[in-house]
Amino acid sequence: MGKLDGKIALITGAARGQGRSHAITLAAHGADIIALDICRDIDTNSYSLATEEDLAETQRLVEKEDRRCITSIADVREPSQLRDAIAAGVAELGGLHIVVANAGICPLGDVPRKAFLDAVDVDLVGVINTVSAAYPHLSSGASIIATGSVAALMKGGTDNPALGAGGAGYSHAKRGVAEFVHALALALAPESIRVNAVHPTNCNTDMLHSEGMYKVFRPDLETPTREDAEGAFYYNQPMPVPWVEPVDISNAVAFLASDEAKFVTGLQMKVDAGTAIPHTKAYALA
Ligand SMILES: NC(=O)c1ccc[n+]([C@@H]2O[C@H](COP(=O)([O-])OP(=O)(O)OC[C@H]3O[C@@H](n4cnc5c(N)ncnc54)[C@H](O)[C@@H]3O)[C@@H](O)[C@H]2O)c1
Repeated sequence: MGKLDGKIALITGAARGQGRSHAITLAAHGADIIALDICRDIDTNSYSLATEEDLAETQRLVEKEDRRCITSIADVREPSQLRDAIAAGVAELGGLHIVVANAGICPLGDVPRKAFLDAVDVDLVGVINTVSAAYPHLSSGASIIATGSVAALMKGGTDNPALGAGGAGYSHAKRGVAEFVHALALALAPESIRVNAVHPTNCNTDMLHSEGMYKVFRPDLETPTREDAEGAFYYNQPMPVPWVEPVDISNAVAFLASDEAKFVTGLQMKVDAGTAIPHTKAYALA
């Protein structure tokens, strides 16, 4: 018996990285998957996004877990693409119980000012679009999980002026995700639909291993390599790791998606090896 047996999960940004890991992990716990991704680049983003081949590989890996996987190319900035892709997946698989709004970009460095708007469009508006398109298919017991970012929540994190307009947009968007989750959790609680956020620290994906990110961690070098940046990646986390793995985030997502968490809602769940501790209070109810 898997803890997600009989459930159907929608995951955006599922072609690679954390989204692919969420798809495989939720499938391993018994869920069928609707996997969406843009599968093309966004001009102002300083590194390449996933490809159609990446999305097909996610499908193959989910099917290896003996679960069904419906894939669609869809841009989370486009509500009609989301509505069509979700309707197709729901028609094929027979329902929707879990929504993982994970797709994101992080256009750091020397990028056009429009990167601010693009980051907000994908990382915040895209989350709202995903939830809005999925909501008509959800009912009591459903679980919505949105991906934020610990670094983006911290003052002087990704909003550091040295990180450019894209970093400022990323921070604005991820803080908006945290607020959106908080407010939506209260709004949907009477329907017994839960809404939570996961906030990763550095995570071992293509987003972290990008030129712009290496420069954030090694501003002293003109063109830092992965090796140059690797030592500096330890800086954020009090625990002695440079990053967490995608499956570490997926394990949190699987818990929040499952009935084990049936009374957990409105949580800002940090999977961050302690990064947020020095920046937060133990409690904040007042
Ligand atoms: N990697 C990190 O260090 C880190 C840290 C904190 C938070 N995050 C967040 O985790 C999430 C997953 O990122 P990742 O680390 O797996 O990076 P990634 O770049 O490997 O994966 C992001 C995925 O989202 C897809 N995507 C981007 N724009 C899209 C759009 N408009 N519509 C649909 N799909 C789109 C990409 O094609 C890609 O497959 C993001 O929201 C990111 O902001 C990442």
